[in-house]
Amino acid sequence: MDLNKIINERKEWLKWKNIAPLRQALNTLEDIGDVEVELGDWIRLTSPKATSEEVERIHDAALLMKPWRKGPFDLFGVKIDSEWRSYMKYNLLRPYLDLEGKKVADVGCNNGYYMFRMLEFAPAFVLGVDPSPLFFTQFELVNRYVKSDKLHYEMLGIEHMAGYADMFDTVLCLGVLYHRSDPVVALKNLKRSLRKGGELILDTFMIEGNEPVCLVPESTYSKISNIHFVPTLSALENWCKKAGFERFEVLESVKTTTHEQRRTEWMDGQSLEDFLDPENQDLTVEGYPAPKRVYIRAYRK
Ligand SMILES: C[S@@+](CC[C@H](N)C(=O)[O-])C[C@H]1O[C@@H](n2cnc3c(N)ncnc32)[C@H](O)[C@@H]1O
Repeated sequence: MDLNKIINERKEWLKWKNIAPLRQALNTLEDIGDVEVELGDWIRLTSPKATSEEVERIHDAALLMKPWRKGPFDLFGVKIDSEWRSYMKYNLLRPYLDLEGKKVADVGCNNGYYMFRMLEFAPAFVLGVDPSPLFFTQFELVNRYVKSDKLHYEMLGIEHMAGYADMFDTVLCLGVLYHRSDPVVALKNLKRSLRKGGELILDTFMIEGNEPVCLVPESTYSKISNIHFVPTLSALENWCKKAGFERFEVLESVKTTTHEQRRTEWMDGQSLEDFLDPENQDLTVEGYPAPKRVYIRAYRK
């Protein structure tokens, strides 16, 4: 697989007519000196040199880049309150992360919220992979001021990870597996990107039950159209084994709440409260079990 060729071809995506104005807004922003970066639940940037005119321009550029799914970010007072309070997932995983000096990938990284947060561990580098030119542009807006040379972002997908053969110590793949029509192939691609003994940290929707079976939504699941399989833990473990992982470990499992995922002014459209049965919050509007996520770790054989 010629990753450089794919990466170069995808640069053309930044010229799409829905993306080009965002790039234009991004590229005309001025540099701001003396930036302080606070990597807390809010990723907060401050500077005594940020003028009110420039902050207004950042605000306008960020508005063009809606929807902001992941965050939150505070860019010199521009408070981007994203649909997801992504710190809830990050804080859940944080005790399991040991990334100092490690080569890390975040597959399906969205706008890189977790990539920025993981800088606290001083990794060798973090490669974020996500095929969305919108989320890439959001990442670039934030990293324009964070200016981390440890963070790299490619508009690639999980299907390209095998191209990074034996590269990573740790691969995160959060909230992506249920979007794949062949989860075992997806897991094999992740495995190939890991060095031998490297760890995969993954989360996916799950259903309860002891049998190794899956829910296969007829059309949508929680109003999301491209959810292919929602496994039991046992089915997920079997997928991991088939893909060449060992030492499968459940880290956490939690139901998604409307505290974590909700409508804000930084996203247009519906959010979790619209996806659940109004009469019974344990069910989705389609009558399936409400979204519950499991966080697992497994190691490349
Ligand atoms: C549900 S979001 C999860 C985002 C983030 N990882 C998290 O857990 O909060 C799914 C992400 O996968 C990205 N995505 C879509 N197709 C993908 C692919 N083929 N490979 C990797 N990521 C993909 C989407 O752009 C989106 O950012």
